[in-house]
Amino acid sequence: MDAETFRALGHQLVDWVAEYWERVESLPVRSELAPGDVSAMLPESAPEEPEDWSAILSDLERVIVPGTTHWQHPGFFAYFPANVSGPSVLGELVSAGLGAQGMLWQTSPAMTELETRVLDWMAQLLGLSPAFRSDAPGGMGGGVIQGTASEATLVSMLAARSRHDVPLAKLRVYASEQTHSSAVKAAMIAGLATGPDDDRQVRQIPVDEQFRMRPEALAAAIRSDREAGAVPIWVCATVGTTGTCAVDPVSAVADVIASEAPDAWLHVDGAFAGVLALCPEHRHLFEGVDRADSVVVNAHKWLLTNFDCSLFWSRDRASLLRALSITPEYLRNAATESGSVIDYRDWQIPLGRRFRSMKLWFVLRHYGASGLRTFLRQHIALAGDFAARVDAHPGLERVAPVHTSLVCFRAVEGNEASRALLEAVNASGEVYLTHTTVPDGRGGQHFVLRLAIGGVRTTAAHVDLAWARIVASLRR
Ligand SMILES: Cc1ncc(COP(=O)(O)O)c(C=O)c1O
Repeated sequence: MDAETFRALGHQLVDWVAEYWERVESLPVRSELAPGDVSAMLPESAPEEPEDWSAILSDLERVIVPGTTHWQHPGFFAYFPANVSGPSVLGELVSAGLGAQGMLWQTSPAMTELETRVLDWMAQLLGLSPAFRSDAPGGMGGGVIQGTASEATLVSMLAARSRHDVPLAKLRVYASEQTHSSAVKAAMIAGLATGPDDDRQVRQIPVDEQFRMRPEALAAAIRSDREAGAVPIWVCATVGTTGTCAVDPVSAVADVIASEAPDAWLHVDGAFAGVLALCPEHRHLFEGVDRADSVVVNAHKWLLTNFDCSLFWSRDRASLLRALSITPEYLRNAATESGSVIDYRDWQIPLGRRFRSMKLWFVLRHYGASGLRTFLRQHIALAGDFAARVDAHPGLERVAPVHTSLVCFRAVEGNEASRALLEAVNASGEVYLTHTTVPDGRGGQHFVLRLAIGGVRTTAAHVDLAWARIVASLRR
């Protein structure tokens, strides 16, 4: 494709994306297609001859738009948001256009040094300890962009594992029952579990009535493992669990580690809620995070930066390198050997890496920290307002404190009514909520509706619409 054609098509496609954002509200938030419908619209084999771009563009409308669940729709309240913004998409475009690989400092110095700087900026903005910054004394700290929080969690577990020269079967890892499944998956990949139900080396710690890890239960689990000759190596505390945005008592968890297993690694998962630390009034949620060995915060959920952009900091760079560094001859170079550069391939699982800091750099510069704080605060206010309505409604019950922009509630009538409510609300096509289950305190589970606010286009009117659909569906 010559530069002229690229320019013309590029302008057309930027227009298409801008128009998509303008019209997304008019589309059904969830794709209405059935399994196989998209495949049926696609040819069985790739084109042998070049196709005209008019055909390709028309297939965007014919096949892709109807087959898409519109995460950028203002009525999208499902899962957690994965919002995007103009500056972030433009950053992605530039990154794709540069087409550089950043596995070594040498393969793209700007990619490495911008990433380091942007992660240091973010560490400052989130109020993280200077120990997590690349300029920390002794050069032991630093941040890196991982593809996902799941990869970051795995990397932290591998780094933790590298601290112990004992047989794998002796190692134990700990997370609460409400921890994201990526912790158990990391254990499966790290050789500590054969599947999700293999609890021989993975301890799932019970939670309290607000779904927070019980530190005394963690202490008991670690103690009994140590008495049995096992070696506790890794503990995950979450600030903002996936189900209900519960906040584990990170300080108390760190105290337990300090007294029961000082060599164990504390990883803090702030994948969704971590960005709230940008706002000083929410910093109390992060108390104790400074005592962690690593922290992950996704910019690609709530911070206007498109997937993938998972920010990961560690204060123990040496363990990361021990776990992940391997240097074949073809990667040797003078800069690496000088010891004065970061080679991010040693901080992640793959070798190749994209220029992911570009989009975050654009976002930070376009909105400024103040713009990002205003953005987050709007959602916090909307969630507070929605929670108050739930609390005042006799047919509904809130099931968890609202620390963030996630509100969890159920129909007082019970699980069947709650499930029916969710289905009826989503059937409108105007809003989309998802669910989870939480312990009901009597040995059973509550079915819970989750309203997660975080869309770029979501306003009070959209939350009002969700509320209207909920109330109308309850009455039916
Ligand atoms: C608390 C928490 N941790 C981890 C993850 C996994 O995120 P990712 O898709 O970046 O791996 C999620 C996803 O929602 C999450 O809520």
